[in-house]
Amino acid sequence: METLINTASRQPIGVFDSGIGGLTVVRALMERLPFENILYFGDTARVPYGVKSVETINRYATQITEFLLRQEVKLLIIACNTMAAVAHQAVKDLSPVPVLDVIEAGARTAVSHTRTKRIGVIGTMATINSNAYARAIHALDPSIRIFSQACPLFVPLVEEGWWDHEVTRLTAQEYLRPVLAEDIDALVLGCTHYPLLKALLKDLVGPQIQLVDSAEAMASITAGLLANQKLANPDHDIPTYRFYVTDVPLRFRHIGEHFLGRAMPNVQVVKL
Ligand code: DGL
Repeated sequence: METLINTASRQPIGVFDSGIGGLTVVRALMERLPFENILYFGDTARVPYGVKSVETINRYATQITEFLLRQEVKLLIIACNTMAAVAHQAVKDLSPVPVLDVIEAGARTAVSHTRTKRIGVIGTMATINSNAYARAIHALDPSIRIFSQACPLFVPLVEEGWWDHEVTRLTAQEYLRPVLAEDIDALVLGCTHYPLLKALLKDLVGPQIQLVDSAEAMASITAGLLANQKLANPDHDIPTYRFYVTDVPLRFRHIGEHFLGRAMPNVQVVKL
């Protein structure tokens, strides 16, 4: 048994997303767990998922899971809030290795932050319609009130690089007005892209409201799981990072490197 655990611990962590937004999670993992090998999968040919049907999102998530399991990952991380919201069970049912997802991570952090028990959640249409954050938060504390808002324009604005732009500020004001009227004290950034808007959103919501970045929360939960299950990589060498995508769109490297905060070597295009 001991040998088995040690062998698995050297395997990479598999992180996946509908596109390159999940690199915000990879970035947090790299900072928190500097010796872990990471394999990232971004479905850049089919992004965005946030406007697709539940059936399609489930089918795509299943294909990605099968691909990553063939690469013998030791742990699967659903970095995409939309897939976590809609396809978490399908991924779990398929996977012999542990599965973590950003919704669980964001929900736990939000519950630990709130004092007023009033939490705002923003995300894509599919995430908000699924009510997955509300379910995850209520499983931890049913007395908390949740105020959700889909912000579909945020993903294209972030991909345009308009992280500190007047158009984004106005869009955010419009989206957040109803949520901010509810006296919340925590706002969950329930989408891979939103951590890049953190500075702008912080300005808008003010110091009383804590922004919950699921990428950071994910990194600490991963560290806990690796330690508890004796899955942390015992080698302290320079880790290997591999990036699989289904297409290399225009400006891919430029945007990807912003999400990741560093250069992206080892990018391979694969077909599912
Ligand atoms: N990755 C998605 C999420 O976190 C955003 C992009 C998309 O719509 O596919 O919800």
